[in-house]
Amino acid sequence: MRSSSIKRYCKGNNTWALVTGASDGIGLGFAQELAQLGFNVVLHGRNLTKLEKVKGRLQLEYPNVSFRIAVVDASSTSHKQIGKLVASIQDLHLTVLVNNVGGVAKTSPLELLAAEEIDSAINLNARFPTQFTRALLPKLTQSKAPSLIMTIGSLADFMVPYTVTYGGSKAFNMAWSSSLALEMKAEGKNVEVLAIPVGKVTEVGHNKDPITFFTPGARTVARAALQRVGCGKAIVVGYVGHAMLKFILDILPASLFAGVVVPRMKGLWEEERIKRYMNIMRTSFQLWRGRSIHSIRQQIRRNSHPSVYFHIGRSQSCFWVPYLDVLRHLSRLLSSSNHS
Ligand SMILES: NC(=O)c1ccc[n+]([C@@H]2O[C@H](COP(=O)([O-])OP(=O)(O)OC[C@H]3O[C@@H](n4cnc5c(N)ncnc54)[C@H](OP(=O)(O)O)[C@@H]3O)[C@@H](O)[C@H]2O)c1
Repeated sequence: MRSSSIKRYCKGNNTWALVTGASDGIGLGFAQELAQLGFNVVLHGRNLTKLEKVKGRLQLEYPNVSFRIAVVDASSTSHKQIGKLVASIQDLHLTVLVNNVGGVAKTSPLELLAAEEIDSAINLNARFPTQFTRALLPKLTQSKAPSLIMTIGSLADFMVPYTVTYGGSKAFNMAWSSSLALEMKAEGKNVEVLAIPVGKVTEVGHNKDPITFFTPGARTVARAALQRVGCGKAIVVGYVGHAMLKFILDILPASLFAGVVVPRMKGLWEEERIKRYMNIMRTSFQLWRGRSIHSIRQQIRRNSHPSVYFHIGRSQSCFWVPYLDVLRHLSRLLSSSNHS
């Protein structure tokens, strides 16, 4: 394999990289790999406590490297918050941005997602990386030193049913990233812009399966992505097992592809639907032990939707049932199961 040119972005021990979504999974892998290469690292995430723990661990592992924390919720952040985040790192010599933050979408038909869920998924996977890159560009281009913007995509960015907002957002990232790569050249800016699609990975937040050739660990994927720096392409798969999968997916006729992917994704949606039935039943029936009927009536009045309640025995245990909500959710799930 060709040697990576990532080291050209690390000049001296005062150079910084910023990794979004660095408290877990592939992002944490990037933080470890970059620290090992001698970069100081800004760890971005949404959970300060978790980030502090990760920072403590990394500091022990890499005592000669500095770490900083940046907290912003990427699924709901405002332009102002992004501006503040950028201002908080103005003093750093930043040469590498890794747009890693993202999340596996809920497996669901589009019509069953709440409008807010769609906004949140698009914000997390597409809007935040785009806005954050825009806000950081002046910093990344202010000196003549070369800089790197790496954006993590997904092999599931094309024709994957039941995760349409996730796939759509990831495809959007590949498009703007590869376009920006050309724009930087057109503008004579010394910025390498590289997009890295990724397949299934383990040792991440939602998946702790054993490592296999096609499902590598998070750190292996981060290392393979950094290995691709300087390859001259705008979009390139980093890890070899994922590259093989991508090759197969690309040459597969559309009907064959659908024959494989549709049953798999439908199966995942079936599992998700059962989980949701259980959740609706669990969260909709609240058991209030030892509370007076009067206090429960007051509570029900505060929750403005109509409800019924039962008084069971002398113990004054009551179930509060927001029955309209339950019926609405269940009928949506049932009607989707009749259609499929
Ligand atoms: N794992 C895969 O199989 C796979 C496949 C293809 C592509 N990818 C892509 O690879 C990237 C990393 O995925 P991963 O599997 O490593 O994920 P992960 O293990 O779940 O880690 C995601 C990171 O992002 C942070 N994060 C999540 N939502 C956030 C929010 N709203 N605001 C700020 N930070 C947030 C998480 O913080 P917390 O620690 O607080 O949760 C965590 O640090 C994503 O872009 C994903 O789409 C992953």
